Amino acid sequence: MNQIYRNLTAALLLIGLYGTAGADEQDARQQISMPDMMKKHMLAQMRDHLLALHEIQVAMARGDMDKASDIAETRLGVSSMPAQMQQQMAPYMPQAMRMIGMEMHKSASRFARTATEGDTLRALDSLSTVTQQCVACHAAYRVN
Ligand code: HEC
Repeated sequence: MNQIYRNLTAALLLIGLYGTAGADEQDARQQISMPDMMKKHMLAQMRDHLLALHEIQVAMARGDMDKASDIAETRLGVSSMPAQMQQQMAPYMPQAMRMIGMEMHKSASRFARTATEGDTLRALDSLSTVTQQCVACHAAYRVN
């Protein structure tokens, strides 16, 4: 039993070390500076994006595509972001970052439409174009 724990500890240590070294070497993300309040607000919004994705998956698994569509449009879609906030955030973001953000909102709205058409696999495919934008932006930018 102890041997198993020792092996497990060694494995976890290795993963930890490897992970840390990997992060140091690979973090070529561009740092975005913005006022503290705005950063806090943006990160809170990000956490809601993740929650929305989760709720969309739960709704889809229950076959409630109308609900999935609704969550996508109101929390991630084009109409989810007040114009006033876009104007406040935009000056702090590089053009390429804004483009990824816009693409995320557009693909969420596309998913919202696809979801109600009755083809779950196509809807899932469409949802993956939303998460693709999350991944793309996170790979390129950081605020901390
Ligand atoms: C236009 C760029 C962009 C898009 C698109 C984007 N994010 Fe983010 N997100 C960021 C940045 C920048 C951070 C801060 C990362 C850092 O500083 O390490 C962040 C952080 C987060 C965090 C951490 C929040 C915290 O409290 O620290 C979560 C969760 C998150 N994003 C979820 C998502 C999800 C889910 C999506 C897609 C539906 C998404 N984001 C789309 C740029 C983006």
